[in-house]
Amino acid sequence: MKELKSQKNKRILLGVTSSVACYKSLEIASRLVKKGCSVKAVLSPNASKLISPILFEAITKDEVFTEQFDERKVWKEDHISLSYWADVFLIAPATANTISKIACGICDNLLTTLVLVRKCPLFIAPAMEETMWKNRILQENISKIKKMGIKILGPERGFLASRKQGIGRMMAPQKIVEKIL
Ligand SMILES: Cc1cc2nc3c(=O)[nH]c(=O)nc-3n(C[C@H](O)[C@H](O)[C@H](O)COP(=O)(O)O)c2cc1C
Repeated sequence: MKELKSQKNKRILLGVTSSVACYKSLEIASRLVKKGCSVKAVLSPNASKLISPILFEAITKDEVFTEQFDERKVWKEDHISLSYWADVFLIAPATANTISKIACGICDNLLTTLVLVRKCPLFIAPAMEETMWKNRILQENISKIKKMGIKILGPERGFLASRKQGIGRMMAPQKIVEKIL
């Protein structure tokens, strides 16, 4: 009961990148909402090609953010307001591309810009093929961001998109939710 109370009203910024595992982010959002958290989703532009932002809107009952420069909006600095709003920033799934951009401080979309503006803890749940995960460049980028205090959740060993067994599978949504709360 006490634990539930402290989780209530926690504000989670859920970043989603274009991994095949992005459908599992919906379960993460749903579990967080059931625990009483407020969730705002930010999809990379590539993620919104794989999964509809409308699904995240339906679960979070909130606006979903994808674009840094949205022509339909009048003056709106989402990269600042979202960052100040969040208690916790989770990127799940995180592609090799986004992880590597974070390691280099690249801010070329709303999601990666938010990483630099943020004031709250950042958790990253990588999801990718084993070959990508084991790639030396990626591993060096992972070590670099770990040293900066960014928490890496997983990945796990299991069934991958290639239908092979290996390491690279995103940590299970339930476990991710337990770790960040
Ligand atoms: C169907 C599909 C599945 C993909 N799955 C992954 C994945 O699991 N992990 C990964 O790192 N990249 C994956 N990619 C490649 C990324 O989408 C690609 O590197 C992209 O540039 C990443 O953009 P983002 O990080 O801005 O979302 C996938 C691409 C497609 C088309």
